[in-house]
Amino acid sequence: MLIFLVGFMGCGKSTLGLEVSGRLGYDFLDTDNAVETLAGISIAEIFRDKGEEHFRALEREVLLAVNGENTIVATGGGMPCWGDNIAEMKRRGIVVYLQMTPQMLADRLADCRASRPKIANLNDEQLLEYITTTLAQREKYYSQADTILDCRGLSDDDIVAQIIELTKINRE
Ligand code: S3P
Repeated sequence: MLIFLVGFMGCGKSTLGLEVSGRLGYDFLDTDNAVETLAGISIAEIFRDKGEEHFRALEREVLLAVNGENTIVATGGGMPCWGDNIAEMKRRGIVVYLQMTPQMLADRLADCRASRPKIANLNDEQLLEYITTTLAQREKYYSQADTILDCRGLSDDDIVAQIIELTKINRE
């Protein structure tokens, strides 16, 4: 079974997804890492030298190449919002949206902006503004997920436990 974790930058798709995969004995794939491997350069360099369209084309290529049994797939924050990527994910597996508020995301992203070209140069105030605006535009894609996990009030451990639970339910 393929489980796609979707949601805004900083919601924990990669860190929590890796933890879930370890506990379930599943494989783990991070689409951002796969794009970097495919391109042979970092995401920041792809955006800087080739532009976002090129990044999205590589991201799509990575998505179409996802296969395998029992894998947790941590997707880039913009992946489900491009073309029919969200429909493609749903065709291939179960899509879980890690839903957080703009403030939660801003707090989580405050110290890890540098590797993310879309927010690398924003101060705290601009970061919250960017998240609020962009999340409002993206919500209609994220909310097409098979399951929406409302993460308000949950610790990272709680979120991991809930994803594991969802995976077990969908396996039965
Ligand atoms: C992006 C999110 C990033 C990465 C790229 C663009 C976005 O992934 O794919 O910088 O458009 O939101 P994470 O959500 O893993 O940070």
